[in-house]
Amino acid sequence: MGKILIKNIKGLVQAGENFPVMKRGKEMAELPIISNAFLALEDGVIIEYGSMDEWGGIADWRGIEIIDAEGKYVLPAFCDAHTHIVFARSREEEFVDRIHGLTYEEIALKGGGILNSARRLQEMSEDELYEKTKKRIDLLKSYGTGAIEIKSGYGLTVDAELKMLRVIQRLKENSDIVIKATFLGAHAFPSAYKENHRGYLDLIVNEMLPIIGKEKLADYIDAFCERNYFSVEEMAEVLEAGAKYNLVPKVHVNQFSALGGIKKAVEMGALSVDHLEEITDEDIAALHGSNCMPTILPSCSHFLSIPFGDARRMLNAGLPIALASDFNPGSTPSGNLQFVMSLACVKMKMTPEEAINALTINAAYAMGLSDTHGTISIGKKTPVLLTKEIPSLAYIAYAFGDNHVERLI
Ligand code: NIG
Ligand code: FE
Repeated sequence: MGKILIKNIKGLVQAGENFPVMKRGKEMAELPIISNAFLALEDGVIIEYGSMDEWGGIADWRGIEIIDAEGKYVLPAFCDAHTHIVFARSREEEFVDRIHGLTYEEIALKGGGILNSARRLQEMSEDELYEKTKKRIDLLKSYGTGAIEIKSGYGLTVDAELKMLRVIQRLKENSDIVIKATFLGAHAFPSAYKENHRGYLDLIVNEMLPIIGKEKLADYIDAFCERNYFSVEEMAEVLEAGAKYNLVPKVHVNQFSALGGIKKAVEMGALSVDHLEEITDEDIAALHGSNCMPTILPSCSHFLSIPFGDARRMLNAGLPIALASDFNPGSTPSGNLQFVMSLACVKMKMTPEEAINALTINAAYAMGLSDTHGTISIGKKTPVLLTKEIPSLAYIAYAFGDNHVERLI
């Protein structure tokens, strides 16, 4: 990798020392920017940064790559703390069904949805899944994503769940960006267990988790806590079983209904609670003062035409917010975090500064990467993104649909 000097940067964003691990409420409006700046990296580690006026020059020019960033911004790379990027194929036929008036829930009840993806994935080889996913990851990198959390959950049998997690393991080993793995066996009840929830929970707890624990195939554990999916009690049972293998909860809650899953997940030490299209005062009270990161997925709201998370209400209550893509074939066939930023601003009335905090420092926290990602600080091995020439940071959200990222470094 060697040495890289980025000079004449129009704005160096989120650079500084002694950041908190997350920004909450009003703090999210604050985004430090050094204008006319430089940034020096050695083997990916930040070794120096500051304003061009303070720049002392280079003592040793050998092997150094110099990037002139005139008119361009440098930010910590975006972190995507919630994806289902390992999947067999797209589901645009369900998208057309929804145009004709069916709801996401109705499609799922007639065998579409997650069970549709599970059937396809069960039939596909590990190698093919790996190759397909790798291409998707390369695309996301070109949009400025520098770390990705990936869930299982389209397997729903012992073999297929392990296959997914092994694909994620291989991606971890072979990618130049950090990947975290989340076990989501509790994504949906397979048809054979529709009337036998106990049987599927036993499969997760007694068959899947012991192998996942032994082979260290996951960092986190997830469950889809929702009506027609997993109840609060069922989610709690899965999370408790995961805790025996040191899997920290990161859960799907409050997408269509507020069942009390947030309070339970926070009590059980969840690192994040994700979706939150629906939220109650009790949910907000449970999150207040906790170490759990509320994570909103606005591309899912856009694509399913469901409510957007109430970011202003959460920020007014002093909560932190992370934003993520939810990239998956059913509810969010896009992992473009620049589009997520645009939706957060347009639909959730977050300011560009709040959205960037939600995609960097807070998103890094939501995937356990505060030590390496999300801020630009001396000694941190942090991927950064270089924008194209743009008039302002707000322009990334404003001129939606274009890729404003030139490269990931
Ligand atoms: O996060 N809500 C649960 N899981 C995914 C959608 C899964 C699918 O439809 O395939 C989500 O939106
Ligand atoms: Fe999801």
